[in-house]
This record gives sequence, C-alpha cells and structure tokens, in this order.
Amino acid sequence: MYTLTGVTKTYKKDGGTVAALQDVDLEIEDGEWLAIQGRTGHGKSTLLNVLGGLDRPTAGTVRLDGHDLTAMREREVGKIRATTIGFVFQTFNLIPTLSAAENVEAALIPLGMRSAERRRRVGEVLDSVKLGDRAHHLPSELSGGQQQRVGIARALAKRPRVLLADEPTGNLDEDTRDDIITLLETMHRRHDLTLILVTHDSALAYRAPCVGVMRNGRLSIRRNTGRLAP
Ligand SMILES: Nc1ncnc2c1ncn2[C@@H]1O[C@H](COP(=O)(O)OP(=O)(O)OP(=O)(O)O)[C@@H](O)[C@H]1O
Ligand SMILES: [Mg+2]
Repeated sequence: MYTLTGVTKTYKKDGGTVAALQDVDLEIEDGEWLAIQGRTGHGKSTLLNVLGGLDRPTAGTVRLDGHDLTAMREREVGKIRATTIGFVFQTFNLIPTLSAAENVEAALIPLGMRSAERRRRVGEVLDSVKLGDRAHHLPSELSGGQQQRVGIARALAKRPRVLLADEPTGNLDEDTRDDIITLLETMHRRHDLTLILVTHDSALAYRAPCVGVMRNGRLSIRRNTGRLAP
C-alpha cells in the first residue's frame, strides 16, 4: 500500500537544521500491522504525519497505492485523507462542543453522504466501539478510554484502508489501554485494516508482527516471525 523512498524532513531552527526524518525507505503491505517505537524527538510523529499526507517531506517520495503524495496538490491529498486514511491521536482531539455522535459524523461530511446514511453509519460505528449508549454525551461527560473510543470511531467511520495512530494509549491507564489495543486489533483483523501505530509501550509493540524503531530520524524494521508474549 505504501512505498517510501529516501524520505527526509528537515526543519530550520535557530540558524541550524534539524533532520526529523533521514532517508527513510519503507514498504507497507495492505493489511499489515506496524508498530513504531523510539525515544522522544526521534521522528515518530513526523513519519506518521508524512504517511497521512499532513506533512510534506523535504525530499523523497511517499507512494500510496502507486500515487506519489508529495507530487499531489493539497486538494487531492485532502481527498485521499478524507476517504482512505483514519487518524487517532494521543490527546483524542475531539471537538468539545459536539456530542460523541456529532464528532464521528464530522468525519463523514467531506464524503458527501446523505444525512440519513451518515447517521446510520455513525450509529453503527459507535456500536462497534461499544458506545451506542453514549452517543449524545459531550467529550467532557466521557472517561478518557471512552473519549479515545470516540476518536477511533471517528477514524473508522469513513471505512479507511489505513489507520494511523500516534500514541493512542499514551493518556490511558493500563486496563483501558488493553481495551483500546484489543479494539484496534479486532478492527485490523475484521476489516483487513492496515494499522500503523506509534507507541512508547513495549508491551504493546510486542503484539505487532512488524516493529519499526526510529532513531535520529532513521528507521530500522524488525519483522517478528513468531509472536512474542507481551
Ligand atoms: N514544526 C517543527 N519545527 C521545528 N522542528 C520540529 C517541528 N516538528 C518537529 N520538529 C523536530 O523534529 C524532531 C522529531 O520530532 P517528532 O515530533 O517527530 O518526534 P517524536 O518521535 O514524535 O517525539 P515524541 O515521542 O516526543 O512525540 C524533533 O527534534 C523536533 O524538535
Ligand atoms: Mg510524537
């Protein structure tokens, strides 16, 4: 699904440059599950943003199904994001004045769906994350784990082919974290969803068949042959 070649991202800072990504080559197949680890400031979020078309690299190409995101107009990239790519964030990023259902529905507006179909889809996806009975609650009326499930429902509502998650369990306690991971694994299996997940949590990364480690903007990949116990 993804082919990255020579992807480099540099930032100018205080007269010098910071290389957030350095010459990253990466192949990600359809339906793969990749966990990305690495210490703080080593380029994990930058890589995820580049994969999601939220950020453009300074050099290199990012092909998604053969189309080079780096050569596309912003509008075209936006269309791909709206239909193909779901994002989940560490801090949930829900709109505080909208209910759970409205937050999820917001992701469907760019798809030009009819409102009845949109609402049906919202109900379905909230049920699938077991929040059917919380649809009309505001984010402030939900626990952290529930808010993250709304975040996941919002990302999945469009039926994306890839889910990009940046520390999705970073703000959750251990039990809630396990619930969220089980939910993501289920979605990955059930919908053949490609899952790319940034995490500091080794227990979580061990569950992924494929682990990438970012160090100083460089990526090394290890494919787990047998599954290691968490
Ligand atoms: N907009 C920006 N302007 C300047 N430098 C930036 C910018 N965004 C990121 N960087 C730098 O790029 C490097 C990589 O940042 P990135 O956010 O990708 O790290 P990370 O691995 O996600 O860290 P964390 O685990 O803390 O989230 C860091 O040195 C950071 O300071
Ligand atoms: Mg980060």
